[in-house]
Amino acid sequence: MGSLLVDNIGELVTNAPRDGVDDPLGLRRDAALLVEDGEVAWIGPARYAPAADRRIDAGGAAVLPGFVDSHAHLVFAGDRAAEFAARMAGEPYTGGGIRTTVGATRAASDDELRANVRRLRDEAMRQGTTTIEIKSGYGLTVADEARSLRIAAEFTGDTTFLGAHVVPAEYADRPDDYVGLVCGPMLAAAAPHARWIDVFCERGAFDADHARAILACGQAAGLGVRVHANQLGPGPGVRLGVELGAASVDHCTHLSDADVDALASTRSAADAPAAGTATVATLLPGAEFSTRSPYPDARRLLDAGVTVALATDCNPGSSYTSSMPFCLALAVREMRMTPAEAVWAATAGGAAALRRDDVGVLRPGARADLVILDAPTHLHLAYRPGVPLIRQVLHNGVPR
Ligand code: NIG
Ligand code: FE
Repeated sequence: MGSLLVDNIGELVTNAPRDGVDDPLGLRRDAALLVEDGEVAWIGPARYAPAADRRIDAGGAAVLPGFVDSHAHLVFAGDRAAEFAARMAGEPYTGGGIRTTVGATRAASDDELRANVRRLRDEAMRQGTTTIEIKSGYGLTVADEARSLRIAAEFTGDTTFLGAHVVPAEYADRPDDYVGLVCGPMLAAAAPHARWIDVFCERGAFDADHARAILACGQAAGLGVRVHANQLGPGPGVRLGVELGAASVDHCTHLSDADVDALASTRSAADAPAAGTATVATLLPGAEFSTRSPYPDARRLLDAGVTVALATDCNPGSSYTSSMPFCLALAVREMRMTPAEAVWAATAGGAAALRRDDVGVLRPGARADLVILDAPTHLHLAYRPGVPLIRQVLHNGVPR
C-alpha cells in the first residue's frame, strides 16, 4: 500500500491531549499526519513531515477523527414516511410503527436487506462516519434476527442483538414466552454474529424485569450490554444499565437526578474515562428532531461529569438520518453542548460507548480513519449546519 502523508493541516483534532493541558480535543496547528498500513504512524508539525510515497495536501483545512456512530438500526426494509408526515401533523410517536418495519423486513430477501445496509453505510461514510454500530431488531424471529446480524457483520464488527426491540404481534398476549425465546434459541442463533446485546426498556416495550433477564442472558453468552433507556418517559432503563455495567445507555431524554448521579458514579469509578469502564450516556438528537420531542439536556450530564456520546439512531421510524454533522449541530444548538464537546462526543465519545481505543482518536497506532473538512476549524461543523463540509474521508488509511 505504501505510506501516505496528509500535509498542510491547519487544525488537527486528535482527541489525544498533551499531559497537563486542559484541551480534550488535543488540537494541533499546522500539522501533518503519516499513514502506514492503515494506521497513524506519525503526527507532528508540518515542517518536520517525513517523506512518503503519496501526499494529500489538506490546504490549511481542519482534519479530525472519522465520526464513530455508536447507535444505528440499518437492517430493515421499506420506510415510514407517511408516519413521519402524520407526526408532523400532530400524531405522537409511540414506537408502535416498529411492527410495520418488522413486517417489511421479514418479507425482504437477504440481498434487499444487504443493499439497504450498504446504501446507508455509504451515505454515512460520505458524511464522515468511519465506524458504525449496527443493530438487529426488525426481524424478531430466530431466523430473521440471525440473518439480520449475519448481514450487519458483513459491514461492521460492532453488531448488536436487539431481539428485544418490541414484542412482536404474534406474542402480544404472552410476552413472557417471547422473553424466553429471546433468551433461548434466538440468543443462541444471534450470539455468534453479535458483539453487543440491547433492549428497548420502555413502557410499551420491555419492563425492568424482562430487560434485566434478557441483558443478563446476553452477558452470560459473552455479549456486552447497551440499553435503549428513558426515551419516551422516565423509567428504570438508565439505572438498570448502570447496575449491569453497560457500556452505554442510549437516548437519556427523561432523566431523574438519581439517573444522572448513577451515571456520574460510573465515571468517577473509572480511571480512564475516554475508554474506561464508565457507562456512557449516548444522546440521539435525530430522534427528538423527527418525533418533535424535547431534546435531552446534555449540559446537565456534562456538568455532572458523565461521559456523553452523540449518535444518529438511524432507523426508518424515529430518526431517518445517517448524518453525524446534523446530529452534532442539533446538539450544539438545542442541547447546550459547546462545539468542542459535540465534536468530542461524536468521535471519542462514540468510541468510548463502543469500548474502542483504536478509533475516535488520532495518535500513532490508531486506525487511520479521518475526515478532511472544507473548513478551517471544527467549529464550522455546528456553525454551518446543513452544509456539506466533508471534503474527503480516509478509512483505514484509504481515501474514499
Ligand atoms: O431508537 N426506540 C426504539 N427503537 C428505535 C425506533 C425504532 C423505530 O421506530 O422503528 C429508536 O428510536
Ligand atoms: Fe435506537
